[in-house]
Parts: sequence; structure tokens; C-alpha cells
Amino acid sequence: MTSPHAYLSGLFSLDGRTAVVTGGSSGIGRAIAGALARAGAGVVIVARGAEQLAETVDELTADGCRAAWVAGDLGSREGVRAAAEEAAAVFGEPDILVNSAGINLRPPMGELGEEVWDSTMAVNLEAPFLLGQRFGPGMAERGFGRIIHITSQQAHRAFVHSGAYGVSKGALESLARSQAEAWSPYGVTCNTLVPGFVMTALNRRLSSDPERVAALAARTMTGRNGLAEDFAGAAVFLASRASAYVTGQSIHVDGGFSVH
Ligand SMILES: NC(=O)c1ccc[n+]([C@@H]2O[C@H](COP(=O)([O-])OP(=O)(O)OC[C@H]3O[C@@H](n4cnc5c(N)ncnc54)[C@H](OP(=O)(O)O)[C@@H]3O)[C@@H](O)[C@H]2O)c1
Repeated sequence: MTSPHAYLSGLFSLDGRTAVVTGGSSGIGRAIAGALARAGAGVVIVARGAEQLAETVDELTADGCRAAWVAGDLGSREGVRAAAEEAAAVFGEPDILVNSAGINLRPPMGELGEEVWDSTMAVNLEAPFLLGQRFGPGMAERGFGRIIHITSQQAHRAFVHSGAYGVSKGALESLARSQAEAWSPYGVTCNTLVPGFVMTALNRRLSSDPERVAALAARTMTGRNGLAEDFAGAAVFLASRASAYVTGQSIHVDGGFSVH
């Protein structure tokens, strides 16, 4: 009989894979970077702040993982291009790309100016597009690839001044489907993980209001809000061989929030 360990490794091990995780220094991206690294992948995390990047990588390397960081600003095309080249130089061209870097600026719709629109689209939508263009064709040529975007319930519904943010996340889900259509025939799956409300730095203002936090927890089916760690299993699944027949999908990791 095959041992359970060998069976599970056959499905989910990321040994020998390389991954780039944007936003891998905080919140959901950090949890995903840790999960992919602990499942065997060499992981390069990309964000702006060197301190949090170094701290994350130190934690992973202390745990025996292969991990490295690249400081880069994904808010401009030049920044994305430079970060992509630097990231690919560490462990080689990535087999797995996770786009978790994101910003959520929430001016009321009537006050939403071009600056907020542009910076939101640049980080949340254009960076994932450019990174896909940079890495997707190579994945297709090599016959294996996994692209995972982190979107939001706001791709599906309005929620607390969704403004430009909701638009960027809706478009990101469309991008995943276009990428899936283009590259799935060559072994590259493209999917999105859709969080509900997760207690991270991104929504510091909302998560510091206990009444709002409790009300949001009550809207889930599980009775609690999300934690970054809730994304580990779904990310390893989507990055692994096991998910070869799952593509173009939006997978909600939200305690049932979206269907309640
Ligand atoms: N938390 C939630 O409830 C929730 C819900 C739905 C969707 N999401 C989505 O999940 C993803 C992760 O969010 P999170 O809650 O984990 O947020 P977070 O803790 O604030 O992490 C965001 C990450 O993105 C990086 N980042 C932001 N702007 C960047 C830029 N211009 N260039 C490079 N890196 C940049 C940040 O690092 P630096 O600041 O150092 O650059 C950080 O590593 C986002 O796409 C978010 O929209 C979150």
C-alpha cells in the first residue's frame, strides 16, 4: 500500500517548484508564501517595505524553507518590470505566481479622484496583468504553471465604499478567466481566491471597531471572520498538481459569507 505521506506528496508537494508571491510580507500573502514554502517551493516575496520582507524571509529560512525577498513598488509599470526580473533571478523562472499585493483606499464615490483610481488600478489590476504577461507564456512553454490572484467579495457585491477597489477586483477575476482561456491548454491554470473579511493590516480601521467586527462575523456561516492562515490550504491546492483540472474559477474562502 502507498503510504499516506507518499500519496499526499503526489497530490500536493511543491518540491522543486519556484514561486513568486506579491504582497508576501503581510496578511494573506504572507500566509500563502509560508504555506507554499513549507510545501516545498522556493518562494520569492515582493513588496515595498524591506523590514517586513526581511522579517518574513528570516522566519521561513529559520524553519528550513527556501525563501528570498525583492523590494519593489508594483504601483508603476517600471517597478513591476524591475521586480519581476529581480524575482526571477533568485530561484529561476517561477512555476507559481500569486498576486496578493493590494491596496484599498475608500473615499466616498463622489470624492473618488483620478489619483486613487490610478493607484488602485496600478497595484490591484495592472501589476497582476503585467506579471502574467511576463511569466505566463514561459509557464505555458514549460507545460506547467499556476497563477493565483487574490480578489475580494467586492468583485461580486458593493461593500463599504467599494469604489475603485471593487472595480479592480471584478476586473481581476475577468483577467483570471482570460488567462485561463489562453494558457490552460498548456498546463497553466489561473484561478482566484476570494476572501470575505479577513483581519489584516489592510482593513485596520474596520477591524478596530469591535461592533462592526462582530456584525461581520455574524454574516458568515462559521460565525467568525477570516484569518490569513485560512488561505494556506486553498493556496497549496491551487499551486499543486492536484488542481490540474480547476481553472478559471473564483474560489471563495470566506466562511460562507458570500452565500449567506
Ligand atoms: N483583508 C481582507 O479582508 C481582504 C478582503 C478581500 C480581499 N483582500 C485582498 O487580499 C490581498 C492581501 O490583502 P491583506 O489583507 O493581506 O493586506 P495587507 O496585510 O495590507 O498586505 C498587503 C501587501 O501588499 C503589499 N503592497 C501594497 N502596495 C504595494 C505596492 N505598491 N507594491 C508592492 N507591494 C505592495 C504590502 O507591502 P508594502 O506595503 O510593504 O508594499 C503587503 O505585503 C489584497 O489583494 C486584498 O485586496 C483582503
